[in-house]
Amino acid sequence: MRALILKALKEERHISGEQLGKRFNISRTAVWKHINELRGKGYEIRSSPRLGYTFIKSTDLLLADEIASCLKTRFMGKRILHHDEVTSTQDVAENLARAGEEQGTVVIAEAQTRGRGRRGRSWVSLPEGGIYLSIILKPELMPSQVVQIPLIAGVAVCKAIRKMTRLEPRIKWSNDILISGKKVAGILAEMSSEFDRVNFVILGIGVNVNTRGSTLAKLTGGIAASLAGKSSECISRVQLVQSLLQEFEKIYIKFLSSGFNSIREEWKTYDGTIGSQVSVVDGGTNISGKAIDIDNDGFLLIKKANGEVKKVISGDISVIKRNCEY
Ligand code: BTN
Repeated sequence: MRALILKALKEERHISGEQLGKRFNISRTAVWKHINELRGKGYEIRSSPRLGYTFIKSTDLLLADEIASCLKTRFMGKRILHHDEVTSTQDVAENLARAGEEQGTVVIAEAQTRGRGRRGRSWVSLPEGGIYLSIILKPELMPSQVVQIPLIAGVAVCKAIRKMTRLEPRIKWSNDILISGKKVAGILAEMSSEFDRVNFVILGIGVNVNTRGSTLAKLTGGIAASLAGKSSECISRVQLVQSLLQEFEKIYIKFLSSGFNSIREEWKTYDGTIGSQVSVVDGGTNISGKAIDIDNDGFLLIKKANGEVKKVISGDISVIKRNCEY
């Protein structure tokens, strides 16, 4: 009922309680209760004796109906579960996937109490303007190919940010999204698999959208920044989620049908690593050298000072110097 009232308000702009009541066969008091609930969710609705209810502004809460209203996807986000606060959207999505939830379902939260990042790190998840979402995927891939999913998700995140802002995001291999050297988004893929098949993947994406830059800087030791902080404008989280899901669906379909190789060139247009002097810990050994390329499987190729080329599939790289020679 609330969704119907909201739709009517958006379409009509001005409509009286009496008209709404008649249309939906409910009392004016019931209409008033629904309107107050919508206000509680952040919708701005004015009431006046002359015009009745006037729809002023949508909420910026990441409500399922709001996201679904202009979402142009085939299956990504067809079901969206919104929470005010969870431990981690990864946990909620994993439980759903284990219970048989479909591919494409999205769990989204306004805040997380135990948001997690890669390698056991935590992810700052304040109820203050971030996007914290997890997507359930059921790809027909070998488990070894799943490492490529965060790579393609990185491209989708960059494209969505580019569409919604004037910012120029870059990917620090493998999937940190940076703007002017500060991390604005992170990607985490967790998998349940058998020896030769994937049961499901939970793809978690965190974006610092309107979070206050100074708060993030304090909580992350200056590593992170927000899109709003970098662009000096407030960004619609709802539209950014829509764009993100749309971009991700396109690239995911292409990846499943044609492999990572078909996305490699596009990935490279957002790359902020190749050409730099980097160092990475891979299986306990430290590899340092120049990042020279990524291969058809998404491995980073590092040329050591002695000319040897090493392939690295995952890990946290430290950029020592940009655009080095040798
Ligand atoms: C990283 O850069 O280390 C990855 C960060 C991933 C954060 C997102 S926020 C939504 C989802 N839920 C989590 O607990 N983590 C991911």
